[in-house]
Amino acid sequence: MNAFTPFQFNCGIEVKNRFVKAAMEENMSEPNQLPGTALKNLYASWAKGGVGLIITGNVMVDKLAMTGPGGVVLEKDTPVKAFREWSEIAKQNDTKVIMQINHPGRQVFKKMGGKVLSPSDVALDMGKHSGLFTAPKAMTEEEIQDVIQRFENTALRARDAGFDGVQVHSAHGYLLSQFLSPLTNKRNDEWGGELANRARLLLEVIQRVRIACGTDFIVSVKLNSADFQRGGFDVEDAIQVVKWLNDSSLDFIELSGGSYEAPAMQGKSGDERTLAREAYFLTFAKRIAEHSNIPVMTTGGVKRLPVANEVLSSGMDLVGIASALAYDPALVNKWTVNADFEGFIPNTGWKDKTLSGLANMALVKRQLRNLGKGKRPSRSSSPLISLIIDQIRAAKLTKRYRKQFID
Ligand SMILES: Cc1cc2nc3c(=O)[nH]c(=O)nc-3n(C[C@H](O)[C@H](O)[C@H](O)COP(=O)(O)O)c2cc1C
Repeated sequence: MNAFTPFQFNCGIEVKNRFVKAAMEENMSEPNQLPGTALKNLYASWAKGGVGLIITGNVMVDKLAMTGPGGVVLEKDTPVKAFREWSEIAKQNDTKVIMQINHPGRQVFKKMGGKVLSPSDVALDMGKHSGLFTAPKAMTEEEIQDVIQRFENTALRARDAGFDGVQVHSAHGYLLSQFLSPLTNKRNDEWGGELANRARLLLEVIQRVRIACGTDFIVSVKLNSADFQRGGFDVEDAIQVVKWLNDSSLDFIELSGGSYEAPAMQGKSGDERTLAREAYFLTFAKRIAEHSNIPVMTTGGVKRLPVANEVLSSGMDLVGIASALAYDPALVNKWTVNADFEGFIPNTGWKDKTLSGLANMALVKRQLRNLGKGKRPSRSSSPLISLIIDQIRAAKLTKRYRKQFID
């Protein structure tokens, strides 16, 4: 078996190979938060480029709780026409596509406004950048039930729109991972306290989505292998959650790590276990996979074919690739003709780790926009200029969003 070997999910859907385009938030929606031409061009380039499965950038379950401006929203009453066109483009060339669905919880930029919810009222600690975020409000029982219903609604609409499945985002410090972490979940009701209670929301969401969408639909979870914060959700917790997920008819689990506070998903947690320059989470993922009877995928740092194959020979079933596919959407096709072809992942090494992380994101997003305009990505884009463009763009899109939904 290697990365070019097909794979069949428990739900029956088969992918032509094990390369998965991992979720990347594009911030490229049309003014009404719908997918449009730019996103369709971008997804066409990935579908033509050879990956077996595409996971969309995170799509919000609530237009009033956004991870960022220009995000896509799919709610109960959203017309699905634009989403159907999007899924059709992504499914060409025998590619499968699933929609990542997400609620940011407390990770909402202050400038965006809207709901800032979390299990408890613990504010983000981003050092001198903490002021970018509003302190959250501890959720009421009604708000928790509303969020569960929203995940179900969005998953059903994704199905209606022709997507092959959904991935529930429970990593990177967003709402479901806030519930999992003892640092952000200080509740003493059935949704907090011991891990079984902290995992309840995730397990409930998965169950509701599976029941609503049926058995012939991919249901996946993106879970942190660890949050990389002292006293936070760690690898032992992840192993226990995976043991519970074993009973939940999932098609695969994607293991990642980190949050806004500790951006390990960018290979920058400062924790020596993530310092491996490629395949950041493999060491943890291998341990966790031993306890999983659900197929496992890991994402982070992959830009070379031998590393992708090493991920699989280490016990993973699928290999996720994000940044390198922004720079080379046809990376997989390129590997079929040249196994030594090396993809590219930006690595801005500024002293301010937060700004470096933002610059890397800005660089990658700039390539996504290039692809959306039908242009070629560029490995030589400047991190500083990309960050400035990103900030100006974000300000404009935030204004557009606020005018439409908040003010
Ligand atoms: C621009 C950008 C946007 C991202 N957006 C998301 C997202 O919406 N959902 C998610 O789960 N991960 C997101 N990620 C994280 C990636 O899925 C992936 O876990 C991470 O980038 C490490 O993989 P890589 O080294 O192949 O890029 C994003 C990463 C980048 C660079």
